[in-house]
Amino acid sequence: MIDFSTHYLGLKLNGPIVVSSTPLSESLDNIRRMEDSGAAAIVLTSLFEEQLALESRALDEDLSRGTESFAESLDYLPEQSDYRMTHEVYLEYLRRAKAAVSIPILASLNGATTGGWIRFAKDMEEAGADAIELNTYALATDRSQTSAELELQLLELVGAVCQAVKVPVSVKLSQSFTSLPHMAARLEDAGARGLVLFNRFYQPDFDIETLEVRPTLHFSTPSELLPRLHWAAILYGHLNIDLAITGGVHSAEDVLKSIMAGAGMTMMASALHIHGIEHIGRVLSDMRYWLEKREYTSLWDTRGCLSRRSVPDTSPFDRGNYIKTLSSYSLRQTVAAF
Ligand SMILES: Cc1cc2nc3c(=O)[nH]c(=O)nc-3n(C[C@H](O)[C@H](O)[C@H](O)COP(=O)(O)O)c2cc1C
Repeated sequence: MIDFSTHYLGLKLNGPIVVSSTPLSESLDNIRRMEDSGAAAIVLTSLFEEQLALESRALDEDLSRGTESFAESLDYLPEQSDYRMTHEVYLEYLRRAKAAVSIPILASLNGATTGGWIRFAKDMEEAGADAIELNTYALATDRSQTSAELELQLLELVGAVCQAVKVPVSVKLSQSFTSLPHMAARLEDAGARGLVLFNRFYQPDFDIETLEVRPTLHFSTPSELLPRLHWAAILYGHLNIDLAITGGVHSAEDVLKSIMAGAGMTMMASALHIHGIEHIGRVLSDMRYWLEKREYTSLWDTRGCLSRRSVPDTSPFDRGNYIKTLSSYSLRQTVAAF
């Protein structure tokens, strides 16, 4: 029997697939099915900084009997009812999810700035979260804001959450850093126990008939895995924190590639929306078959074997790959395609 058991964020897990933050886990029945299918842990959907700000302003509004400026100040935010759960409902759901299964349940806190809202990390810990995944999506749209300032803001946020709780904190990162290895090391210094590579952004689409900019959500495809593999392979062996991959993990091959790149954990969301929760079990059994055929006894013997520090030629991870890929492209391939 192949050994799949591992540790992630100091938690003992029974396998390499965690259910990433998705509304699929907003039903206890689904949560039980995830555990039965072999999910090693589940990350709940996020509580958002904006939502928490909205809730506390609504409370202030109740207390001060409402002002015009309060209503105006909320115009730019989604309505409170647009969020799926209030924080109280979230915490109660977290307690019930913990009681329903024996695999770890991670809470997700989603925001960009330090502020009063991060005290909810403590509430999540008290409600039983085994760890907290901090989703730190900040988009630079202000030309006066430097990347150094944004990075400092992120480090302060991570440091503040890590100080607020005893449970481990992982950071779901954007891949848009000029020096990701440096940033990863600073996040480790700030107290993060794991990095989740990478947050997936949902750029709005443009409707040229109505001249509207519309939010869109497409599920991922396995092609999105490549930048994640690339960065996991570069970071592997240079940090004392865990690496997880989210984004484009759909099949056994995708999980195996991720582990070989150096990830200690993979996460799935889109694949479960597309193929159903039981897909986890099929992926695990495909992996088992592949590993047994090659006489591996532990999945983890493959870990990092394709990382930058393990391969004899590191040029595929560097500029060399870019040059080779472009210069080896033959025009005949394009002609053949027509
Ligand atoms: C419908 C849907 C809702 C999601 N909600 C959240 C969320 O609340 N918080 C979060 O950090 N990620 C959220 N995600 C992102 C996923 O957790 C995951 O990181 C991303 O979809 C990439 O993984 P995938 O390729 O397996 O889908 C959501 C994804 C989907 C498809």
